[in-house]
Amino acid sequence: MQELTELVESAQRDFAQAEQPAALEDAKARYIGKTGRITMLMKELGKLPAEERRARGQQINSAKQQIEAALNARREQLAEAALAKKLESEAIDVTLPGRLRSEGGIHPVMRTWMRIEEIFRSIGFDVADGPEIENDWFSFTSLGNPPDHPARSMQDTFYVDRNDDDGRPLPLRPHTSPMQVRYARTHEPPIKVIAPGRTYRVDSDATHSPMFHQVEGLWIGENVSFTDLKGVYSDFLRCFFETNDLVVRFRPSYFPFTEPSVEVDMMFTSGARKGKWLEISGAGEVHPNVVRNFGLDPEKYMGFAFGSGLERLTMLRYGIDDLRLFFEGDLRFLRQFN
Ligand code: PHE
Repeated sequence: MQELTELVESAQRDFAQAEQPAALEDAKARYIGKTGRITMLMKELGKLPAEERRARGQQINSAKQQIEAALNARREQLAEAALAKKLESEAIDVTLPGRLRSEGGIHPVMRTWMRIEEIFRSIGFDVADGPEIENDWFSFTSLGNPPDHPARSMQDTFYVDRNDDDGRPLPLRPHTSPMQVRYARTHEPPIKVIAPGRTYRVDSDATHSPMFHQVEGLWIGENVSFTDLKGVYSDFLRCFFETNDLVVRFRPSYFPFTEPSVEVDMMFTSGARKGKWLEISGAGEVHPNVVRNFGLDPEKYMGFAFGSGLERLTMLRYGIDDLRLFFEGDLRFLRQFN
């Protein structure tokens, strides 16, 4: 009897010490497994005289039940502890701030691009797109730029390491004007089109960058005059800047593909450049030779063209004093437009 009590206590102690389910099952085997001590005592029952057997059997059984109860209680404890640990490791602190997905925004120059498309579409202009690697003829020759013209010099223009069919190196287009010729050769007059896009020049300072954006405009009909250029362009500026209060001048100038030619300057009315002029566009009546290169008769068709810098229009709109800010990718700058 004493021996059974000790056995139960010993089992309870062993179970309590088992920290892992596997250790607990090992301890169980020592008592009530196949060769466990209780099991062995059961097997020895047969050797006892019949009159002792019954009482002894009950005692052993009772000890076994106590051991099983202790085992089950410990099993439950360990399972609960394991669950608690798991829950703790997987705990989610719902009060932590969420991880925000950063939101992109539209670049200020793209905003200008989109606004310009919208304004010119509203007065019936088509929007065209063209190649950034141009050939020599579209870039220069067709626009009245003879092969020795300074605008072609290596200082101004980037060339790629490949020649066109005429054996001339292919330029990255230094302006969007080639699109005048490309578009006019494939469309019937009246022609009303703008062609916004990237342009390239070997140039870099506060108002120039090697890659920049222009929008070309072309209106060709039977009687599209310089007056129309002034009217359409001034109207565009009023829409773009959302004010009638603009300081703009059309200054006589020269381009080989327009006659007469002007440059359009606009004054900063805010920012560090306040009171200073900035050239925003070249423009003019398309030269008869260029109209001929459109495949049209210059006796019948005439019109105007302009080419405006999108960065510069954006600078004037927001009072930005350095064009290079657009390309530095500084979020402190870019966030202000979104
Ligand atoms: N292509 C000229 C430039 O880049 C601008 C221009 C376009 C001038 C159309 C006249 C007509 O400076």
